[in-house]
Amino acid sequence: MSERFYLYPIWLRLWHAINAFMFLVLLATGLSMQYSNPDWPLIRFDLAVQFHNIAGIIVSFNYLIFLMGNLATANGAYYKMNWKTLFDDLLKQLNYYLFGVFKKQPTPFPINQSRKFNPLQKFTYVVTMYGMMPVIIITGLALLFPEMIIDKVFQSSGIFLTALLHTVVGFMLSMFLVIHVYFSTMGSTPTSNFKSMVNGFHEPH
Ligand code: HEM
Repeated sequence: MSERFYLYPIWLRLWHAINAFMFLVLLATGLSMQYSNPDWPLIRFDLAVQFHNIAGIIVSFNYLIFLMGNLATANGAYYKMNWKTLFDDLLKQLNYYLFGVFKKQPTPFPINQSRKFNPLQKFTYVVTMYGMMPVIIITGLALLFPEMIIDKVFQSSGIFLTALLHTVVGFMLSMFLVIHVYFSTMGSTPTSNFKSMVNGFHEPH
């Protein structure tokens, strides 16, 4: 096993810890509101609304830390996509996850100081952080201040469409979370990636 190296700066770990915790609050309160039932509320409706609003505002401000950190530090470079080789790279990585990993083959894109993510990880993080996060934050803020929302879009209520988009992207982010945590167990040991997000050091295979 080669030497461990520092890969997760402190600002990133703080952003991630706040983001992960607040996401769990948003998920629990969001699901509770979605499937609310006055006879048996998972979380009392008014409390779920309040906690969802507060956690949403914290996630939104926290997201600015991620954006500024990635703009101002070297961490942003890890998110630069190589669109020309993307398809081939994704296939190689998928093939490794489907077959190679069970045959104990070496990973096709080993992690080092200049490559923090494998292609599948990078693609998912870019879509999540630069695609889905802005949509969930903007639609969430719009629902908090509904007077900002256009009244009608093609005869449909603007508030309804905003809520629909917010719920659909929320569902997709919840799927991301499950897959993200599962793939995070595929480090050099099942817990090594979780430890990295605490101490900042990557443990190579
Ligand atoms: C219980 C919740 C979560 C756990 C246990 C968790 C776990 C981890 C672990 C172990 C890593 C390090 C491995 C890697 O670099 O891929 C990581 C990185 C990352 N996670 Fe999570 N995560 C959680 C929630 C989230 C959420 C909700 C998001 C975004 C919506 C997120 C986005 C990211 C990103 C973008 C990175 C890479 C950061 C970087 O190094 O630049 N995570 N996470």
